[in-house]
Amino acid sequence: MKLFLDTADISEITDLNRTGMVDGITTNPSLIAKSGRNIIQTIEEICAIVSGPVSAEVTATDYDGMMQEGRKLANISSNVTVKLPLTEDGLRACASLSADDIMVNVTLCFSAAQALLAAKAGASFISPFVGRLDDICSDGMNLISEIAEIYANYDFSTEILVASVRSVQDVVDAAIIGADVATIPPKILSQMFKHPLTDKGLADFMTDWKTTGQSIL
Ligand code: G3P
Repeated sequence: MKLFLDTADISEITDLNRTGMVDGITTNPSLIAKSGRNIIQTIEEICAIVSGPVSAEVTATDYDGMMQEGRKLANISSNVTVKLPLTEDGLRACASLSADDIMVNVTLCFSAAQALLAAKAGASFISPFVGRLDDICSDGMNLISEIAEIYANYDFSTEILVASVRSVQDVVDAAIIGADVATIPPKILSQMFKHPLTDKGLADFMTDWKTTGQSIL
């Protein structure tokens, strides 16, 4: 399973990229706003750090505007994935950009029907938002299972990119289903390394080791 970081924060990306666990990055207009920085410069800097796919989202909502913005974003670097909203214009732009070999991540997916259309439009990635579905008492992870089944039925190559992840358990559940990617906030990737029994076990080993008076080097 690939793990992407869902952030536009350069210092968090730099830090966590050193772990070797970061396969790509996703950003959105809210994350760019939170960074307080210029989108073009930020995407350029992220692409210089991470070699995997880096999603940069258009802000136009009409086909022509999405095409113009999408091409500009794709020109930043060969690993930019243009992020388009799951609307009629968005899927039309998805088909056009994908036909030009530009990777597209279709975002704001909340139903299996939407995911089916995105795959038919040639999306490289579909981003179902599990946390926002859970927020309204729906079952986000059930949507991932439905999409996985539909894509397998027809051998679609669109990758399922689980988004709006709120916990380590979400990542585990997505992995059990077999989702291709989870995009996760930096804090959750850091939490994935941790277990209280690891900390306790290590502390006990170090205490016992001290009693030997030995040194490996
Ligand atoms: O990148 C889109 C997605 O991951 C947003 O997550 O937490 O704002 O629902 P959230």
